[in-house]
Order: sequence, then structure tokens, then C-alpha cells
Amino acid sequence: MTLSMKDEILKRFLSANGEPISGQRLADDLGISRTAIWKHLQTLQEEGYTFETIKKKGYVLMTKPDKVEAPRVTAFLKTERFGQTIHYLEECTSTQTIAYELARNGAKDGTLVIAETQTMGKGRMSRPWESTKGKGIWMTIIIRPDILPHQAPQFTLVAAVSIVNAMKSLCHQFSPYIKWPNDILINGRKCTGILTEMIAEMDRVQCLLIGMGINVNQELSDFPEELHPIATSLRIEEKKPLNRAELVGTILNYLEKYCDLYVKDGFAPIKLLWEEASGTIGKRIRATTLTEVIEGKAIGITESGVLEIQLDNGEIKNVYSADIEL
Ligand code: BTN
Repeated sequence: MTLSMKDEILKRFLSANGEPISGQRLADDLGISRTAIWKHLQTLQEEGYTFETIKKKGYVLMTKPDKVEAPRVTAFLKTERFGQTIHYLEECTSTQTIAYELARNGAKDGTLVIAETQTMGKGRMSRPWESTKGKGIWMTIIIRPDILPHQAPQFTLVAAVSIVNAMKSLCHQFSPYIKWPNDILINGRKCTGILTEMIAEMDRVQCLLIGMGINVNQELSDFPEELHPIATSLRIEEKKPLNRAELVGTILNYLEKYCDLYVKDGFAPIKLLWEEASGTIGKRIRATTLTEVIEGKAIGITESGVLEIQLDNGEIKNVYSADIEL
């Protein structure tokens, strides 16, 4: 686990559960001066944490802002690799861009980049992505599976299954489902988008950058008007705010488990999990591709994550990329 000194101090206060920690003890444990401890506490106060000083006992953490910093996320991790290095940013252009630079410079498998807000969030097909400050999960995980370039899209499906299962384990008022290929919807409205990019040579994937944008604690008024009919958040559907750090940790736990399952047993078990979490399979749909509109019943996905649609005349068509209407 790579934590900065400030995050190490914060981690100790978060796990002290309101008990005082002495400045001298912190300084001794961490091998730094009491002045350095005090400076880190000042920085944490500037970030919205408040501490009370109790005579002869030390400092008590009184209030904490709702943030997705490393120590908050690591408290929920049960992974060996995923999230063991976290780059947390208050603001960035796009976590994909930051992750790309880190990956080029050798970032390890499972490195996470997460931000409170993005000024140039990217959606699929070069669409902009709205990233309301402090309300959602805007993150990119760098993974380095030993795969060929044509297998990369399957990892988007691995990510979708991980997110749905994490949501199901923390939320109980609704049932999220995947709309092929990689949107997660609740009651017909989108709450999550996934963007997978890769750095690869012709015959070898160096790494995948799996970007996830999850609407967590927005209220309807946080969304621009034009998104009201099509977007939602977990808070709106669950009718209460959620702990974003817990959701991040839970997603990473599932993601590491399913990526390892994929590497061990191939796509078959993931395909089953995906079909179980899918709201598309078995439904009558309209798929608009670049060249045609196909109407029929979605009957499954292939090994490469391609959607199979059965037309009314029985013919089966494979769809590689399309906008889907249910
Ligand atoms: C989509 O179009 O549905 C995909 C949206 C993906 C958005 C996420 S937010 C975190 C990461 N950084 C980005 O700039 N995009 C992805």
C-alpha cells in the first residue's frame, strides 16, 4: 500500500474511531517531528477535516468531509493488487489522461486514479462526460492482463459485472442492470458509463485503462436539464446518500476477483455473469449501427462480447457497435 505521510496520518485517525491520538506517539511511530505532524494536521484542516485537542491525550478527529481519498478507499479493500496504489486528485482534466501518463511510466497492475471532479471527462465516441464535484465516482484503473488486443473489449464486460455486483451488495431499493455493451441502468435511466482504452502493440496488450463514471450522490437538480429524462444516481434510486469510498472498494474487490477468474478460466464464466446482470438479453430491441437499424430479440453475446440479435425471420445478426433501444 503506497500512502503519503499525510494519508498515513489520516488513516490512523479514521481507524481510531473518535479516540484521541497523541502527537508525540504519531511522531515517534512515523519517525517525523511533532512540527511535521502539526503541519499535516493543518493541511487536513484546510481540506475540511476538523480536530479537537484534548489536554494530555492528543488530537481527536471530529468531522470528515465526504471524500474518496486513498485511506477512505483502502479501509474497504480486500485485494492483493487492485487499489494498492491510489492517485487521488481533487480535480483533473480526465482520470483517463492521468492514467495514460502513469501507465506509460510503468504504473503497476491495479493502480487507481480517482478524482473528485474532472474538467474534461471523456465518454465513449468522444462525447463529454459530466463529473459533478464530490458527488460521483470518477476513476480509472490501470490493469496489465496478459491478453491479446482482440480480448480487450471483454474487460469492459468484466468491469460492468463487477460494478453491478458491487451495487447490489450495497443498495437494496433497486436492481441495476447492464445495457449492452457497457451502460448500467436503473429503471431505464443511466447511472454508470464505462470507457476502456488500451496501450498495445499489434500482438500484445501493455495495459488497459478502465474508466468508470458512476453517478452516486447527485440529486436530480445536480444534472443538467437535458439529462433529467435519461440519467439517474444511486442516491435518487436508493433514497439516501451512499458512502462513495465503500462503493469504490467493493468494486475493486469484485474487479480483481473477476479479472483473475478471466485469466484462469477464460471468458465463459464472465459471459454467464454478464448475461445474468444484463437487461438486454431476452428482450426485443432496436439496434442503430452506423449503417442500419436492426430490430429483433437479443439472444446473447458471443465469446468476443458481440451482441447476437435474432430477426423475425429467424436470421441471427451479430452487432459489434450500436445504440440500443429497449
Ligand atoms: C460512456 O460514454 O458511457 C463512458 C463514460 C466514462 C466516464 C469515465 S469517468 C472516469 C473516466 N475518466 C474519463 O474521462 N472518462 C471515464
